[in-house]
Amino acid sequence: MVSCPKEMHILEIYKYPLYYEIAFQYRDIEGECDFLESQLELQATTSNRRILDIGGGTGMHVVEFARRGYEVHSFDIVPEMVDWVKKKCKQQGLEKVKVWIGDMTDFKQRLHYGLAINMLTTFNYLLTNEDIIHHLKAVADVLDKGGLYIIELTHPRDCLGMEKSTLNQWLERRGDIVVEVDWDYEVHPVDPITQVQERLVKIEVQEGENRRSFKMKQLNRILLPQELKALVACSGAFEVVDIFGTFKEDIKLDSSRKSWRMIPILRKL
Ligand SMILES: C[S@@+](CC[C@H](N)C(=O)[O-])C[C@H]1O[C@@H](n2cnc3c(N)ncnc32)[C@H](O)[C@@H]1O
Repeated sequence: MVSCPKEMHILEIYKYPLYYEIAFQYRDIEGECDFLESQLELQATTSNRRILDIGGGTGMHVVEFARRGYEVHSFDIVPEMVDWVKKKCKQQGLEKVKVWIGDMTDFKQRLHYGLAINMLTTFNYLLTNEDIIHHLKAVADVLDKGGLYIIELTHPRDCLGMEKSTLNQWLERRGDIVVEVDWDYEVHPVDPITQVQERLVKIEVQEGENRRSFKMKQLNRILLPQELKALVACSGAFEVVDIFGTFKEDIKLDSSRKSWRMIPILRKL
């Protein structure tokens, strides 16, 4: 067992939702939601269309789904993120959104969902097999039978020290705020026993005259597809219906350059 205090996963930048959102504003959230929505239509065998975003951060998917008319709920372990989403939804008059502080390693919910999502490798913060299986069971408990759990994970080539799939240094700006990211500015070797890797993230923020520097350490579980399938089978709660290589229906997980993520579609048994 890897013992790891929860704070290890709470990068300081998560307490600054505006900076986080600017850093990650390059993403095609509409395109990602198109994919998630079409998987829900194609693969779910329940008619429940309520959505749960686990570790929802600044609520980029939450807002997009709410705009499309879905009832969408989300939780995150960082209160600043939760407050941010509440404020954003209130400003935009999105009433079907419910957000709360919660921990994905252990949670319960009275309501049931047709789709749960876990985006941008948040799942890699579950470090042990026990944590992963416990989490999968908790998600299954809040899904209808035939409901889906869709997870965005790192492509396996990035876990094996091969050529990288993603650019880890970038710069984004909004108004007079410039956010410069070096996501893996120091990457330690993977612990061969626990398969946990320590990675350092550096973010520099220039806001008008002021400059702030965030240097943060995070632990990620290295998770490969065969192992993921085995853990899903061990959970006894899901079947793997497909694994995609990005948010596009014609790109399955494989070794080609077009495939740069690992996105399993799990269906509750
Ligand atoms: C990489 S961000 C992804 C946020 C969002 N899903 C997105 O796509 O932008 C990871 C998020 O997971 C949250 N988080 C980390 N550990 C968590 C936990 N144990 N339970 C719930 N949320 C957690 C962080 O606060 C952060 O908002």
